[in-house]
This record gives sequence, C-alpha cells and structure tokens, in this order.
Amino acid sequence: MSWRATLLTLFPEMFPGPLGHSLAGRALSRGSWSIEARDIRSFATDKHRTVDDTPFGGGAGMVMRPDVADAACAWAQEGNPGAPLVYLTPRGRPLGQDLVRELAAGPGVILFCGRYEGLDQRVIEARGMREVSVGDYVLSGGEPAALVLLDACVRLLPGVMGGAASAEEESFSAGGRGPLLEYPHYTRPAEWNGLRVPDVLVSGHHAEVARWRAAQSEAATRERRPDLWRRREELDGAAPAAYTSA
Ligand code: ADE
Repeated sequence: MSWRATLLTLFPEMFPGPLGHSLAGRALSRGSWSIEARDIRSFATDKHRTVDDTPFGGGAGMVMRPDVADAACAWAQEGNPGAPLVYLTPRGRPLGQDLVRELAAGPGVILFCGRYEGLDQRVIEARGMREVSVGDYVLSGGEPAALVLLDACVRLLPGVMGGAASAEEESFSAGGRGPLLEYPHYTRPAEWNGLRVPDVLVSGHHAEVARWRAAQSEAATRERRPDLWRRREELDGAAPAAYTSA
C-alpha cells in the first residue's frame, strides 16, 4: 500500500495541481503515492447544499458546519485508515520538518482544507484533528497550505528523490544540533557579469570547501533565523549569548 493523501476541500479541482508535475508528479504516475480530493459540499444534506453558517456570538464571516465536516471526515477515515487527520489553519502549530518526517513515515494523511472564517471547534475536537499552520500569514483557504505540506512529505517517500544525494541534506535537516540554513550555491560560469564565485569553491580543497560552507550556513542562520541559532546554542550547552556575541 502506497502513501495515500485524502483531501477534503470545497475546490477538489485544485489537486494534484502542481504536485502532478516534476518529481512528485512522476512519483504519482509510478504509484509511489496517491491522492484523492473530495468536495466537502458533497456531504451537505439540505437542498441548497449548505456547508457554512453564521458564527454564534456574532462577527464577520461564516463558519463551516460541524455536521457536514464530520461526515466528510468519517468518509475520509474509512478510505484512509490510520492516516492522521490534519486541519490546515493559521491557528495551528507551525509546520516543521519534524512533523513532515513523521507524516511521511506513516500510511498517509487526511487534509481538511478550511475556507471562510474556519471550522466549528467541536468537530476539530471530536475528530482529534491536528491543527497545522504553514506560516504566520493568512491564506484565502487551506488548499495552498495542503499543497505545501504534501510536497514536503512526498519528496521524503522512498524512491521519490531518485538520484538526488539525499532529501535530508538540506536546510532544516537537523544533524543532532538543531537545523541550520543551507550555504549558498554557485555554478558555471566561474565569472558572470564581472562577479566571480568564491575562490575556495574552485580551489579543489575539499576540507576547506566544507569549512567555508559550514561557516556560511552558520552566518546565514545567525543573521536570518536567530530563533534557530538560539536553539542550537541551547543544544550545544553553549555560553549565553551575552558571552559569545561580539
Ligand atoms: N489557511 C489559511 N491560512 C493558513 C496558513 N497560514 N496555514 C495553514 N492553513 C491556512
């Protein structure tokens, strides 16, 4: 049984979308994973096929109905048994490589894509949904977030990355001490628009190249992601920042 993605969405035609192309698309054609997107509206029971209603307590926007969402989840769990049920929402825990790795290692995933103001909290709790966010910004719906999560998982499935040295050799693949951002990359020509690639990269000294890349990774992480850098210092049991910075 290959890794199975079940999508619950009001816009099933958005899938597989970009995941039908490139590495993920070829893996999909080979049967390394599968995807099924089902219209949440097909679980509505009234004649207007209503999926949302006004929020109790007042306020703007609409809320997705728990009865319709629950029927959709029941259907998904029957067809994808054992797969965790994830609700994509900016209120969720931030998606990180750890969760991606965990989901990719399992049987698959059921992704509930919200629209409107969100989903009735009772069905989130009753179904034990894991609430996940892909970042601190608000998308118009969970679908692009679901595509992000799926892409990150699918590239970790056995055989998907093919010849690439390792799916895990990049930014956010922690090597025990917490993740670092990747070092910068260069290719031919060695001089372009008067700009030369760093000398060390054409020196042929593998140890120096490795040292340079490590230093670049650390500098980028320190500057751009002080949160990751602090975590690394903590894991190292390093001296407090006051003693190590400038
Ligand atoms: N839906 C809307 N915004 C989102 C986000 N940032 N992450 C996950 N789902 C979302």
